[in-house]
Amino acid sequence: MKKKLIIALIPVVIFVGAHYGITLVDNVLKVGRMWETPAVRPYEQPLLVMEKGVVPISGGEVIFRATPPADLHPPSDDPAATSVARGKIGYSLFCAQCHGTSHDGNGTVGQSFAPLPTDLRSPKVQSQSPGQLFKEISFGRPEGRQPALATTISVTDRWSIVAYVKSLGVRE
Ligand code: HEC
Repeated sequence: MKKKLIIALIPVVIFVGAHYGITLVDNVLKVGRMWETPAVRPYEQPLLVMEKGVVPISGGEVIFRATPPADLHPPSDDPAATSVARGKIGYSLFCAQCHGTSHDGNGTVGQSFAPLPTDLRSPKVQSQSPGQLFKEISFGRPEGRQPALATTISVTDRWSIVAYVKSLGVRE
């Protein structure tokens, strides 16, 4: 009888011992256990309000948006911005899927658009100033389907793509 009682007590002792052991370690531990960290649920706290001036009010895309196309020029301190070779690479990465490898609007992805992507060697496109093209690539066309790519393509690459497109000239 006594033996059975001792055997029955062994797991109890182990359990209680383990509990106190772990609690002791927990108290010494510097980090909290996973189940003790606070759970922050969506919208539990009000969203942080940004201080005035955190959004760029000078420089950045805002200035490009506000500047009339005629006054928009590639940065003179950045030779890569006027590099046709660089623009060619940019074109193959960001434009060719829609405007096609021969710039005529016959890219694979472009075929699902209505209207179809414009022929970049048409007089309509080639007669536009670099600033105008830069704005169209950056912010899309208000009534059209050209995507706004300002957040996708860096400023330097956008300007170099414009240089490349202008270098193609009107199709003979
Ligand atoms: C997702 C497909 C797509 C991509 C990517 C794309 N375009 Fe277009 N683009 C179009 C479509 C569609 C139009 C026709 C827009 C319209 O007339 O509504 C267009 C129109 C244009 C026009 C003519 C705007 C005008 O004045 O009529 C230019 C210039 C142009 N794209 C340049 C570019 C350049 C440069 C790139 C790469 C940086 C590019 N596009 C990437 C689909 C695309």
